[in-house]
Amino acid sequence: MTYAHITGWGKCIPPASISNDEISTIVDTNDEWITTRTGIKSRRVSHVSTAELATVAAKHAIACAGIDPQEIDLVIVATCTPSTLVANTASLVQKDIGAKGAAAMDTNAACSGFLYALQAATAQIQAGMIKKAVVIAAERMTWCINWALRDSAVLFGDGAGAVVLEAKETPAGLLATKTGCDSEDRDILHISNFGTDLDKYHAFGPSNLLFEGREIFKRAVKGMSEACDDVLNQANLSLDDINVLVPHQANLRIIQAIQNRLNVPDNKVMVNIGQYGNTSAATIAIALCEAVEQGLIKPNDNIMSAAFGAGLTWAASYIKWGERVTPITISDATLPDCDKTGLELVEPSVKACLTKD
Ligand code: UT7
Repeated sequence: MTYAHITGWGKCIPPASISNDEISTIVDTNDEWITTRTGIKSRRVSHVSTAELATVAAKHAIACAGIDPQEIDLVIVATCTPSTLVANTASLVQKDIGAKGAAAMDTNAACSGFLYALQAATAQIQAGMIKKAVVIAAERMTWCINWALRDSAVLFGDGAGAVVLEAKETPAGLLATKTGCDSEDRDILHISNFGTDLDKYHAFGPSNLLFEGREIFKRAVKGMSEACDDVLNQANLSLDDINVLVPHQANLRIIQAIQNRLNVPDNKVMVNIGQYGNTSAATIAIALCEAVEQGLIKPNDNIMSAAFGAGLTWAASYIKWGERVTPITISDATLPDCDKTGLELVEPSVKACLTKD
């Protein structure tokens, strides 16, 4: 039997940030509300495209795996904020990382996108269709924020994470997974004014992320907990067998509710929402990378991950880590310098939102 080991991991965190105090100068909110209701202290704002974030994260993952990019058979970019729709973002990333000739596709399952993409690439490796893949999750969520809506404006941020998968004969990598979609409620989280449902000959407004936060909160806790139970059963594991929980980072209270339902102690849960906010598909990819960098993930650990997002898509995955927790080589890939603060980067968009109507 063939397995798809995770042999490389990397991330790209754009340098400019907006703190809670700074965001309180834009919308009617404050650090106390944001911290207690969400756990978020700061979020990153990208000065570059989604493709550039994805490319830097992928270069780090490829160096970490110590492989030649030309060996890669498949590049997947999980994103709901693509640089361009046609051609897809993955084709630009494929070109810029030097994965000449590799298949390139984008996956959109919103916040569940990384786990969906991991499943797709793993299945191709297990079926013997390909040998090496890079799975990237990259988002530029700040592009679609409506700065007049305080509930969503404080939540989201930009960033990217990536993993390299390689075919090997010992059991590791994604070993059990459950993906699904609660489509009855697909309207409670969406990006407006985007897609071919629009009449292209009529002017339409900006694309804004709109949601019913409280409803999603409830469904997220239930959906992710049930999906984790399902995956544990599939893998014939109990919660005691899980060394690390790497949940989607949408709200610290959602993470804690899942943690309580699953009865997982704090020291087994990867949490970085405080620094980055919700980076949609990228949260789990970045969190996985940081969990290895911080020593939370150890050789041969059993990892449970779960996500929930627009659609309403959901996913849970059991990942067995391999032997290696240190990079083979280190890439010097970085983003171009940013000469603006986070607030300066969003200023045009803030002005447009606040002067509308
Ligand atoms: O990854 C999937 C996408 N993620 C999500 O969709 C997030 C899921 N939902 C959530 O994280 C939470 O529901 C929110 C953080 C969005 C909201 O937290 P909540 O505890 O559910 O608050 P709420 O919507 O019940 O609102 C409570 C109060 C309201 O005021 P009133 O009506 O009680 O006077 C809101 O207007 O908090 C107010 N509020 C704010 N106050 C200060 C909402 N947003 C803010 C804000 N600052 N940013």
